Amino acid sequence: MNSLIAFLFSNLVIFLIFATIAAFDGGNETDYQALLKFKSIIRNEEALSSWNTSFHLCDWSGVICGKRHRRVTALLLKSQGLEGSLSPHVGNLSFLHLISLTNNSLQGTIPHELGRLSRLRFLYLGSNKFNGVIPTNMSHCSNLEDLRLNNNNLVGSIPKGIGFLSKLTYFLFEYNKLTGGIPPGLGNLTSIELFNAATNPLGGNIPHTLGHWKSLTTLYLGLCSLSGTIPHSIFNLSLLTELSFRDNQLTGSLPSALDEMLPHLRYFQLQDNQLTGSLPPSISNCSKLEFLEVRGNGFNGKLRIDFSKLKDIYQINIDDNTYGFGEADDMKFIDTLRNCSRLKRLDLRNCRFKGVLPTSIGNLSDNLSFFIIQENEFYGNLPSSIGNLFGLTGLGLSRNRFTGKSPPPLLILSGPIPDAIGNLSLFITLTISSNRLEGHIPSSLGNCHRLLELRLYENKLSGGIPRQLLQLSSLTIALDFSQNNLSGSLPTEVGQLKMLTYLDMPNNNLSGEIPSSLGGCTSLSFLYLKGNLFQGTIPSSLTSMRGVSTLDLSHNNLSGQIPGFLERFILLEYLDLSFNDFEGQVPMLGVFANASAFSILGNSKLCGGLAELGLPKCNETWKHKRRFPLFIIVIMIASTLFTTICFVYVWCKKSNGQPSCNDVNFQNNFFHF
Ligand SMILES: *[C@@H]1O[C@H](CO)[C@@H](O)[C@H](O)[C@H]1NC(C)=O
Ligand SMILES: *[C@@H]1O[C@H](CO)[C@@H](O)[C@H](O)[C@H]1NC(C)=O
Ligand SMILES: *[C@@H]1O[C@H](CO)[C@@H](O)[C@H](O)[C@H]1NC(C)=O
Ligand SMILES: *[C@@H]1O[C@H](CO)[C@@H](O)[C@H](O)[C@H]1NC(C)=O
Ligand SMILES: *[C@@H]1O[C@H](CO)[C@@H](O)[C@H](O)[C@H]1NC(C)=O
Ligand SMILES: *[C@@H]1O[C@H](CO)[C@@H](O)[C@H](O)[C@H]1NC(C)=O
Ligand SMILES: *[C@@H]1O[C@H](CO)[C@@H](O)[C@H](O)[C@H]1NC(C)=O
Ligand SMILES: *[C@@H]1O[C@H](CO)[C@@H](O)[C@H](O)[C@H]1NC(C)=O
Ligand SMILES: *[C@@H]1O[C@H](CO)[C@@H](O)[C@H](O)[C@H]1NC(C)=O
Ligand SMILES: *[C@@H]1O[C@H](CO)[C@@H](O)[C@H](O)[C@H]1NC(C)=O
Ligand SMILES: *[C@@H]1O[C@H](CO)[C@@H](O)[C@H](O)[C@H]1NC(C)=O
Ligand SMILES: *[C@@H]1O[C@H](CO)[C@@H](O)[C@H](O)[C@H]1NC(C)=O
Repeated sequence: MNSLIAFLFSNLVIFLIFATIAAFDGGNETDYQALLKFKSIIRNEEALSSWNTSFHLCDWSGVICGKRHRRVTALLLKSQGLEGSLSPHVGNLSFLHLISLTNNSLQGTIPHELGRLSRLRFLYLGSNKFNGVIPTNMSHCSNLEDLRLNNNNLVGSIPKGIGFLSKLTYFLFEYNKLTGGIPPGLGNLTSIELFNAATNPLGGNIPHTLGHWKSLTTLYLGLCSLSGTIPHSIFNLSLLTELSFRDNQLTGSLPSALDEMLPHLRYFQLQDNQLTGSLPPSISNCSKLEFLEVRGNGFNGKLRIDFSKLKDIYQINIDDNTYGFGEADDMKFIDTLRNCSRLKRLDLRNCRFKGVLPTSIGNLSDNLSFFIIQENEFYGNLPSSIGNLFGLTGLGLSRNRFTGKSPPPLLILSGPIPDAIGNLSLFITLTISSNRLEGHIPSSLGNCHRLLELRLYENKLSGGIPRQLLQLSSLTIALDFSQNNLSGSLPTEVGQLKMLTYLDMPNNNLSGEIPSSLGGCTSLSFLYLKGNLFQGTIPSSLTSMRGVSTLDLSHNNLSGQIPGFLERFILLEYLDLSFNDFEGQVPMLGVFANASAFSILGNSKLCGGLAELGLPKCNETWKHKRRFPLFIIVIMIASTLFTTICFVYVWCKKSNGQPSCNDVNFQNNFFHF
């Protein structure tokens, strides 16, 4: 009996050994051939240089084998710079459970043969250049859990059979060119947790069968050309934390009990659709919400969200909707934002809000860096509590500029700009335009050392331009004070704005001469000083403003000659000197060669220039005068040189014998030259 057992046992052992060897040899040979084929159509081989006969294939870089059977179970070749295409022979690596080729430059189609990989659980082909379709055969990979095809050039439609992949948990194919809608059969993916189809021109409706995805936490369907309504079954997916439908043509409204339906919601993005109805007040109870973006829809009705429980919220974009009713408590919701200490961005632009800006804006988060409230109909004063928002980097408060039929708003901001605005030292941009602000421009703005642009156009601001403001070397984009009642001269500090591109001060009461320091603004492309009371000549220092493309000095009292250096400004596209008191010859080169590129109307003492101008011929004196400055310069240089030489000569003579002059042998070298 014992011997029989021993015999059987030894036979079994021998059988197992043979079986193993057989499996071993046959197996590694198949894998070996498949890997060689894989390598053979990869164009740059550096990453696969270890794939040679010196090593067992299980030691090739990026190749992982099973411990016992030594068959290839994983290909890990992420970010290896691989070019070429993906060999169909990969379909013979039948033990594979993971393929990662993310972030390479593979092109061509995804081979059908991958459908043979019944053990495959993870397939990562994202961030390549694959084109063609998603193979219908993928539906045979019944163990697939994670399929990532994002950022390729895939076309065609989502294979219906994908719905059979009952273990599929993550399916990502954002940034492709898939069309043909979302197949309703995908509703069978009952294990799915994350579905990202964003940025594919899928088209069609959102199937209500997606309401079967009970495990779903993340759904991205932005930029998918979807239309119709959001099926209510979606709001039944109570585990959802991230939901994005941005940039589609979705219609309909949101359910009122959003808080009970999606209690875990953190990220909610609906921007740029055609949704209507009210933003459900129950959002007040979605206490985990961090990101709310509903801009660009037709949401209406009074905004009744109480944000006080939303302690983690960091971004609120409710702009471009129509909540405003002109009632006194339109802006009451601002009070409820006090506890939202992570709030970084609050965008309320173009919502038809009316009323006074509540002083409680001063209690908003220190983290608030963007507060965009322009194109509403606020009236009354700008509360000085705005100076408490230390984190602000930008503030936009321009009035609606209605272009079409709608009437302009009647109510606008008035009163002074609070001095406290200078506390906001992180400001990068400040725009308060087209209102009725009055009083002075606060010199405290000179504390905003990061300011890139300041636009206060179309108000009733008076007084002078604060010098402190012109010392902000950070101003590089724009300084726009046009259409106010500013007076006094343009301070000489203006020349310190060396990096400024756009200087716009037309239609004020600025007077005095144009400071010659203005020539220090060597980066200016646009200079508008039209419609002021400037007098005197155009300073010759402006010759250094070579980059200027538009120069408007019209409607002032400027006199003297038109400087010849303007002819040499090759970037100058438009020059307006009209309605001043210039005299003498109009130049003919550069911008002056094209009669439509400049205007000199309303200057009665000009002569010469293009024949089209119809001006009288110039007297000889004007022609002489033009050369005069050059002559002066030559004389000045010559006399300076002469004085220096005399000085050095006298000095060296005096200190004769001392080393300073002899050492450099100054006399000899210099005078022989
Ligand atoms: C297959 O495995 C055997 C045993 O380890 C080895 O001798 C042989 O070289 C392998 N073949 C390939 C192609 O790696
Ligand atoms: C195989 O690759 C290794 C590493 O790249 C290299 O050192 C070795 O010389 C190669 N062997 C052969 C036979 O090409
Ligand atoms: C993608 O791969 C390249 C190397 O080919 C690497 O430099 C880059 O950092 C990778 N990008 C990511 C996001 O991993
Ligand atoms: C895969 O293996 C089979 C044999 O098992 C072989 O005939 C075929 O050429 C291999 N390659 C592909 C792509 O099927
Ligand atoms: C598609 O998958 C089936 C089942 O795995 C397989 O028999 C067939 O060869 C595959 N088709 C191609 C073109 O590889
Ligand atoms: C989805 O499941 C239903 C019922 O189990 C079945 O009839 C249908 O064929 C399945 N569709 C897909 C695409 O899996
Ligand atoms: C939401 O779920 C409930 C219970 O699971 C179900 O009775 C109801 O029909 C579902 N509603 C939708 C619109 O799917
Ligand atoms: C928030 O939830 C509480 C408790 O469930 C409820 O009484 C209240 O009406 C809800 N608030 C809103 C605005 O829906
Ligand atoms: C802010 O939170 C405190 C408790 O942390 C609470 O008492 C207070 O009412 C909240 N304020 C607002 C405006 O909701
Ligand atoms: C700013 O936000 C961070 C978290 O993002 C938080 O830890 C910090 O307390 C906030 N600061 C203020 C002043 O609320
Ligand atoms: C700011 O909050 C404090 C309490 O933290 C409150 O006393 C004060 O009235 C609030 N200010 C405004 C303008 O709402
Ligand atoms: C040219 O000179 C004459 C006489 O000197 C003077 O009357 C006339 O105004 C001058 N014309 C111009 C355009 O300066």
